[in-house]
Amino acid sequence: MKFHITTFGCQMNVHDSDWLARALESRGWQAASEDEAQVYIVNTCSVRDKPEQKVYSELGRIGAHLERDENVFAAVGGCVAQQVGRGFFERFPHVRLVFGSDGIAGAPNALERIAGGDGERIALLDFISVYEERERPEERTVSLPGSRQAFVNIMQGCDNFCAYCIVPYTRGRQKSRNPDAVVDECRALVEAGVREITLLGQNVNSFGMDKGGTGDSFADLLFRVAAIDGLDRLRFTTSHPKDIAPEVIRAFGELENICPSLHLPLQSGSDAVLKAMRRKYTRGRYLDIVDGLKAARPDISLTTDLIVGFPGETEADFQGTLEMVERVGYESSFSFKYSDRPGVAAVNMEPKVDPQEASERLMRLQTLQNSITRKCLKNLEGVHSVAFIEGLSRMQDGEATWWKGRDPAGRIINVAMEQSEGLEGFMVPVTVVEAKKHSLVGQRNGEPW
Ligand code: 5AD
Ligand code: SF4
Repeated sequence: MKFHITTFGCQMNVHDSDWLARALESRGWQAASEDEAQVYIVNTCSVRDKPEQKVYSELGRIGAHLERDENVFAAVGGCVAQQVGRGFFERFPHVRLVFGSDGIAGAPNALERIAGGDGERIALLDFISVYEERERPEERTVSLPGSRQAFVNIMQGCDNFCAYCIVPYTRGRQKSRNPDAVVDECRALVEAGVREITLLGQNVNSFGMDKGGTGDSFADLLFRVAAIDGLDRLRFTTSHPKDIAPEVIRAFGELENICPSLHLPLQSGSDAVLKAMRRKYTRGRYLDIVDGLKAARPDISLTTDLIVGFPGETEADFQGTLEMVERVGYESSFSFKYSDRPGVAAVNMEPKVDPQEASERLMRLQTLQNSITRKCLKNLEGVHSVAFIEGLSRMQDGEATWWKGRDPAGRIINVAMEQSEGLEGFMVPVTVVEAKKHSLVGQRNGEPW
């Protein structure tokens, strides 16, 4: 069987799709282009209205491929699948499988059954209360060919019920994985040549604190994974500020292979809005965490998520967000206009912010962010760093070959080198010579290793 996967949404979806592809390959299936595929899998996101709408247009678009042969079918996974469920069977007759994020472990077998059967339809939509270990396909190589970076899931779901967020409804309650299983998987990856691991979860800082958890905290897990011999870089995402423990802040100062970057969603810089959002921290508490992080690791690069136009947000509340963005000095941020999601508490909150006003706030916020981003990158000129090479850079000019790498904080660094092949997965010592709008240019100043 030939399959094609399209992925929307967060890193967890990217990782889920990657796992599904490997699980299918271990059954003898092959990844194929859209034109050749016999099974179309769409992994979906419903965190905001826009990505949800994209799913329907994507299913409409691939309808043409699906009509060429009645044995060709589609499967829908992820958050929209969880939300709409069997509704997909009615709306799109070629959809034969729907699976939520708790159902993904069973998706490869379900796909095999459907492919060998006679028009059967399967829905894997039950929530589970304890993390279900997934099969570990033999193929341990990672997402990008030649790459030595890997994602490792440590939990699923979320218990926070922030007032705007659909995730607890689509991904279910928090379910932590057993820490020994996480450490085993990380160790196996490093033994297979992986040099960089990103631990993934909706709220990694509350790892272990749910029904299925063992009580070992995220900090314990972080120290155990960081100690794996041969692991050069360790990252984790996403962190909820209310749960970040002092030991995790300390880890940034103590563990050399923890990368100096942290995505710490602020959402709003107004205490009143944070309260309405049910975020359970204040500006003051957030700033204490930021100060702690900067003290532990002065070169830490902070990024964030922000929502503008949350119900009841005034101009003064919005000013609070601008102030916080400046005060923290985020290197970059994702900012969104609030959008109503079905079933979340904020749907019933008033007054709604005029959409035009929200768009203007978003633009003002993004203009401020762009100028801070530029300053942060400019400050790096002259700094010594290390580029972890991912592949050839898209832009090539001159005699030398341009390679694309990332510095420890995850910034893109392009480096010109004589070698035109074989540098993927190497660390190259560099000096930053120029800051571009969203990336850096580095000059090699040592031997690749
Ligand atoms: N409206 C706008 N943005 C949202 N996010 C989550 N839910 C909504 C919503 N209803 C944003 C938050 C979150 C990011 C993944 O998406 O900023 O951190
Ligand atoms: Fe959504 Fe809040 Fe959970 Fe993040 S912590 S997934 S924003 S409910």
